[in-house]
Amino acid sequence: MNSCQSLGVGLAGFGTVGAGVWSALRTHAPLVAERSGGRIELTVTRILVRDPAKPRNLPSPPSAELLTTDWRELVDDPSVDIVVELIGGTTTAFDIVAAALKARKPVVTGNKALLAERGAELFDLSRRHETPIHFEAAVAGGIPIIRALQESFIGNRILSITGIINGTSNYILDRMTDAGITFEAALAEAQALGYAEADPSLDVDGRDAAHKALLLATLAYGFPIDPSQIDVNGIQQVKPSDIRFAKSLGYVVKLLAVIREHPDGAVEVRVQPSFIARSNILASVHGVFNAVAVVGDGVGESVFYGHGAGAHPTASSVVADLAEAARALRCPSGHRGFLPYRSNGRVLPAGDTSTASYVRFDVTDRPGVMAEVAQVLARHGIGISGTHSPVNPQNPDADFVDMIFLLHTCPLGVLRKALEEIEALDCINSTPVVFRIESLG
Ligand code: NAP
Ligand code: HSE
Repeated sequence: MNSCQSLGVGLAGFGTVGAGVWSALRTHAPLVAERSGGRIELTVTRILVRDPAKPRNLPSPPSAELLTTDWRELVDDPSVDIVVELIGGTTTAFDIVAAALKARKPVVTGNKALLAERGAELFDLSRRHETPIHFEAAVAGGIPIIRALQESFIGNRILSITGIINGTSNYILDRMTDAGITFEAALAEAQALGYAEADPSLDVDGRDAAHKALLLATLAYGFPIDPSQIDVNGIQQVKPSDIRFAKSLGYVVKLLAVIREHPDGAVEVRVQPSFIARSNILASVHGVFNAVAVVGDGVGESVFYGHGAGAHPTASSVVADLAEAARALRCPSGHRGFLPYRSNGRVLPAGDTSTASYVRFDVTDRPGVMAEVAQVLARHGIGISGTHSPVNPQNPDADFVDMIFLLHTCPLGVLRKALEEIEALDCINSTPVVFRIESLG
């Protein structure tokens, strides 16, 4: 470890979040030092980038000598005490984090894909080398939900966690709803604002939210979860007409993560576009904001709300983790990072999860179509609470129309079987689109 007062930070990645951390430390390192009674001074001593010649549009950019394109140089640099991984992805990022842990340098990361996909290997290294991984920035940007689950809820059994945990998707849905712009235009805005992942399909197909849901579930229930166990659907299939129809019924459409413990101990973990009642607190979460509602058996419901993405909110979480890592280096008191604490647990199969649902069929409009669909649903014991077939004012006699069914609560597995049969009918032109209708506390 650096023998001088200051601890050296190796910043792997200088994009949206990395540059945010650089700026935050320039502004607030003195505040962190003051609040820690002078014990924590943080200085960036090395920065990893892909392209050192890239213009960095900052009031005080780092000097060229700090930059490197060789991650080993950063990890091995004796002036680096703590490694911050903010390059994204699951390959080079894995190598950096693994090498840092083996060198017993604490790691701070915002990389939920890495921890969700390869967390088992990394937490194992963390345990073996007694070196923590901190990841507050990996879930819900600036909201301190990781620390809350690890520390503040330690005396509660977690009954459920429900959240809007992808800022990009929430931003897109909002812009489609309020400004009436297209999905593509809204996504381009989210990218320009630095909210989206380098590969934005992670945001819109729900995988980013699923990675975060996996981390929240592991924190709450202690056992490692494989991403393939999570039922995931994204927002690509949401049409403005779905949003309008939801609104007419008193709902809003949100990409929702649901984590819930069932009485037999199985844990439900899923992510999908959902109708939620306008009166629910999560319905008021707009733009890039996220919210996470945690229900503990002692505390009841607590809702955490804040910026879910973007340079400065995310940097705020990274700096908090840096301070925590620095505190542990200064006053070693055992391993402080999170480690899965149970070796096994059961994820509820997606087919066994039950909600009411909204199903949109693309049908050839002819007499009897609605009855044909209804007959199949009835055969599978699925109750119908409403139907609707919006007329296209531009073309009231169109041959192909959307037909909406609102369905009573049933297991997803039963619904999927019925939909397979319905999709095979002559009158159905494409795979039906399903959104959950959530009944939240
Ligand atoms: P970004 O803007 O794309 O920045 C990535 C940075 O990493 C760039 O500086 C890039 O170098 C560098 N880099 C990428 N691959 C590299 C490689 N192989 N070798 C060396 N340098 C490499 O990404 P970001 O938005 O800051 O996100 C970083 C991480 O934080 C991701 O894991 C993301 O999921 C997570 N995160 C992001 C947000 C957010 O709001 N953006 C919020 C929470 C968590 P160049 O600058 O030279 O291109
Ligand atoms: N792309 C992510 C989001 C960044 O939009 O939520 C924050 O994790």
